[in-house]
Amino acid sequence: MEHLLIKGRNPLNGDVVISGAKNAVVAIIPAAIMANGVCIIDNLPAIEDVRCLQDTLTKLGCVCELIDEGTLMVDSSSLNNCNATFDSVRRIRASYYLMGALLGRFKEAKVALPGGCNFGTRPIDLHLKAFRALGAKIDEDYDNGIISLKADKLVGTNIFLDTVSVGATINIMLAATLAEGVTTIENAAKEPHIVDTANFLNMLGAKIKGAGTDVIRITGVESLHGAEYMIIPDQIEAGTYMIAAAACGGHVSVKNIIPKHMDSLSAKLKEMGCQIVEGDDFIDVISDGNLTATRVKTMAYPGFPTDLQPQMVVGLAKAEGISLLTETVWENRFQYIEQLRKFGCDISVDGRVATIHGVKQMNGADVMATDLRAGAAMVIAGLAANGITKIGNVRFIDRGYEKIEYKLKSLGADIKRVKDWWNLNLQLLQAVPLATVFT
Ligand code: EPZ
Repeated sequence: MEHLLIKGRNPLNGDVVISGAKNAVVAIIPAAIMANGVCIIDNLPAIEDVRCLQDTLTKLGCVCELIDEGTLMVDSSSLNNCNATFDSVRRIRASYYLMGALLGRFKEAKVALPGGCNFGTRPIDLHLKAFRALGAKIDEDYDNGIISLKADKLVGTNIFLDTVSVGATINIMLAATLAEGVTTIENAAKEPHIVDTANFLNMLGAKIKGAGTDVIRITGVESLHGAEYMIIPDQIEAGTYMIAAAACGGHVSVKNIIPKHMDSLSAKLKEMGCQIVEGDDFIDVISDGNLTATRVKTMAYPGFPTDLQPQMVVGLAKAEGISLLTETVWENRFQYIEQLRKFGCDISVDGRVATIHGVKQMNGADVMATDLRAGAAMVIAGLAANGITKIGNVRFIDRGYEKIEYKLKSLGADIKRVKDWWNLNLQLLQAVPLATVFT
C-alpha cells in the first residue's frame, strides 16, 4: 500500500504541463474499437484508468499497445468477444462506454456493471433507455452485475435526456454513429470531452454535428476507418494545479491547456483574490495565499465542474470569511469532508450545501483519499497545511493524475511517495526534506 507524504507550506512556483484528458481518453479508447482500421491515440495520459482499459480491450481480443510514451495503438481486427467481465472493468466507471461501442459496431455487448469512484448512486438508466430507443434489447442482471445488450439493427431516433448526462450523451453518440438514419440528442451534455469524442469519431468517418451544444445530430454511417488523434488537455488536472497554486501561494504557469475550458474556475479564483493571466495555451495563477470567501455552485459545463468541487473546498477552507459550496450534480459528493476536518478545516454539510468557515491555519494530518478528486483535495490540503500529511489510498489518485508527485515536486512541493511509511517517524520527518527519506 503506497502513501503520499507531504510537508506543507512551501509556495508553488514554476511550470506544470498538463496531460491528456482522462474523461476524454476513457471514451475514445472504447470508441476506437468501432473502427475497421488501426487507431493511434496521442497525448495519452499515463494513468490507471488507461491501463485498465488497455487490459480490458486486450481481453476482448484487440491489440491495444503503447507504441511510444503517450501514444496508444488500438487494432480491433482480432476482437473475438463482446464480453467485458467484472474482473476487467471493476476499477473504472467508464467501462459503460464499451456498451455503446460494442453495441454500435457488433450489435451486441455484455458488460459488467461499472466500478470507479463511489459518491452515492450513479445510475445508468438514461444510457439504457437510449439504447432501447435505438432498437436494442437489454437484459439487466443486477444479481450478477451484468448488462447484456443485443440488436438486429439500430435505427436513429430522437432522444431527450431527462438529466444532462455526460456518459449518456457519449454512449448515444457511440451507438448512433453506426445506426441507420439520424439520431438527435436533446438536452445533451456539453463538456469538452464530449466535443473531443465527437471529433475523434468524425475523424474516423462519423457524421456528428452540434457536439458542444445541447442538441447533437448524428447521421449514421456504414463503417468507420482508422485514424490518428490527439487527446485534448485535461481540464480537471489543470484546475487542480490552479487551485493548488491559489491555496499555497506562488506563481504557477499551467501549460498545454485550453484556457476557455477553465473560465468558470478562473472567474472564481479572481473573486478569491488571485491574479490570473491567460495566454493561448496556458494560464498563470499568481497568489499570495491569502484568499477571500465566495460562493460556488457546481453545474454541467460551462458551469463550475463537480470534479473540481473537493479541491475548491480546500481553497475555500483557507479563505477568509464564510463560503458556501452547493453541489448540484452528485447527491453525495461530500463524503471526504470528514477527512478535511482532520486538517482543522471548519466545514459543515447540510444536504447538498457545504458551509465553510475559513481558518487561518491548517495542520498536517493522517488522511485517506476516499475517491479520485477527494484524493486530489487531500494533496492540496497537505501542501497548504503546516507540518506533515500522510495520504493513504493513493491508488484512487493514480486513476486520474499522471505523475502527481513529480509535477508537484517540480513546482517546489516537498512530497514523496512511500511504500513502508510505518518505518518512518512522522515527527522526525519535520526536520528533514522528504526527498532525503528512503523507504
Ligand atoms: C462523468 O460521469 C465523469 N466521468 C465524472 O467524472 C463527472 O463527475 C460527471 O461526468 C459529471 O461531470 C467520466 O467522464 C468518465 P453523468 P458520468 O452521467 O457520465 C445523473 C471524475 O472524477 N444520471 O454526467 O457518470 C447522475 O446521477 C469523474 O473524473 C442519471 O440520473 O456522470 C448525476 O446526478 C467522477 N441517470 C448526473 O446525471 C443516468 O443514466 C450527471 O451524471 C446517468 C446520469
